[in-house]
Amino acid sequence: MSNLQITPATPADVPVILQLIRELAEFERLLDQVTATEQQLHEGLFGPKPSAEVIMARLQPSGEVAGFALFFHNFSTFLAKPGIYLEDLYVRQKYRGQGIGEALLRRLAGMALERNCGRLEWSVLDWNHRAIDFYKSLGAVPMHEWTIYRVTGPALERLGSQAAIDAANESDRK
Ligand code: ACO
Repeated sequence: MSNLQITPATPADVPVILQLIRELAEFERLLDQVTATEQQLHEGLFGPKPSAEVIMARLQPSGEVAGFALFFHNFSTFLAKPGIYLEDLYVRQKYRGQGIGEALLRRLAGMALERNCGRLEWSVLDWNHRAIDFYKSLGAVPMHEWTIYRVTGPALERLGSQAAIDAANESDRK
């Protein structure tokens, strides 16, 4: 697409990024799990210690936002190299099938090479066959033997609360 522009997000993009996150969550039937606020997102992306980065896909000359990718760095011990973990890839419905998702993934792959990363990886819901076919067509392979584990909410509180108290006591003693 000749009129497509892919650029790093700026703080002014936070409201539209949250909208896109919500649109993707709705597509994934997970909207009830989204608690993110603009303020949290601003802190996570543009605060003193950013946790993630975003690239935006815009159509020119209108500047209309067609999609985005949100990603952060992980680290492979096997390769002793950083990687890029793609958390969200999303193209708005009316812009799908025109090469925008592919352009976003190609840009991320380029950034992975520039930053000396060994991997670009992500998770996809197993019913999302169109996205899976799209990823496979670009050379991605599924990691069949790996299952994601997550500790969150009350389970995280249970698992971590005593250690957090111990760490606080330890630093009081110093
Ligand atoms: N609509 C149209 N084409 C789709 C779709 C879709 N919902 N999903 C996947 N595709 C495939 C098509 O088969 C097409 O292949 P073809 O060109 O051989 O016909 C190919 O993707 C099109 O490539 P692009 O035009 O570059 O892809 P697009 O711009 O539509 O972006 C994406 C692909 C990101 C999957 C987009 O369709 C989308 O946002 N879908 C809904 C949300 C989603 O599934 N996001 C990925 C979740 S996983 C993650 O976030 C890490």
